Amino acid sequence: MFRGWIPFYLLSRYYNFGMFDLCCTVRNCSHPLIQSKDGLSCAAGHHFDQAKAGYWNLTQPQDKKSSNPGDNREAVIARHRWLERGHGVGLIAALKSWLPDDGPKTRILDLGCGDGSFGRSLFSDQAANFCGIDLSKPAIKLAAKHWPEATWVLANADRGLPVMDASVNCVLSLFGRRPVSEISRVLSPKGCCVVAVPGEDDLIELRERVQKEGRRRSRVEAIVEEMEGHGLSCSDQKQWRTQIEIGSDEIADALAMTYRAGRRSEKSLVASIDVAKVTLAGDLIKFRRRQD
Ligand SMILES: C[S@@+](CC[C@H](N)C(=O)[O-])C[C@H]1O[C@@H](n2cnc3c(N)ncnc32)[C@H](O)[C@@H]1O
Ligand SMILES: [Zn+2]
Repeated sequence: MFRGWIPFYLLSRYYNFGMFDLCCTVRNCSHPLIQSKDGLSCAAGHHFDQAKAGYWNLTQPQDKKSSNPGDNREAVIARHRWLERGHGVGLIAALKSWLPDDGPKTRILDLGCGDGSFGRSLFSDQAANFCGIDLSKPAIKLAAKHWPEATWVLANADRGLPVMDASVNCVLSLFGRRPVSEISRVLSPKGCCVVAVPGEDDLIELRERVQKEGRRRSRVEAIVEEMEGHGLSCSDQKQWRTQIEIGSDEIADALAMTYRAGRRSEKSLVASIDVAKVTLAGDLIKFRRRQD
């Protein structure tokens, strides 16, 4: 008789609950990965174990030398706390009413998924069709802990996405990576890609204090142009914007997850910031494959 709970990741080692189809990340391989109780293997004999925490480590030796190793633990925990406080709720509602509803077979790939909060909130009933990718171990560990039924992959999204051509119905890039040629490769013919980037006055009150003059810069035009270059046209666009009351703990988290404190100690920086309200803003852009 089993007593108490058996962690999902232990069960999933012995029973195939169905997971997102992945492909091999060994250079020039790309064969599909097949799951067995020993892990994931491809036809060329490459093998990947599942980490105890439940995610798949598909990084390759060259990823360890990456100049951008993903968010560090401090930034990941700060963003996790920030979202746990409910500061993503409005954005989640905006995205929910806007994401395509293509039915239960929709395959969703979240690039730079962070702690997985957005995916979990948006697609909680579609675990078998959801995959989050991040290069930060602390981030992917948190994601797997909070939503073990989904597929979580530690991989470098900038080097190549571990999924087959035209196999994804919805690619998400929420304040995360945008490897445009890879997004175009993996997107199904009728698929869509949803990008969220900070709006021009996102956290402007904090940036004005930290950077002296907070620069307002919209990223939308450049992103649309870049995606167009890879056959992806903007099909819809909207802005999300709100203001929240903020205390010193939240200011510290906002700085840790975005605008770095630089050389000044974070404590003294936080103490010098006397704002009580900040703006949260995001530009949301939807792309579809151009039908030439
Ligand atoms: C600003 S966070 C956004 C996280 C999440 N999408 C959210 O909105 O909460 C950016 C994420 O991209 C990840 N990242 C950075 N470089 C990456 C890469 N080359 N491949 C995959 N993920 C990467 C970071 O580790 C971090 O979790
Ligand atoms: Zn292989």
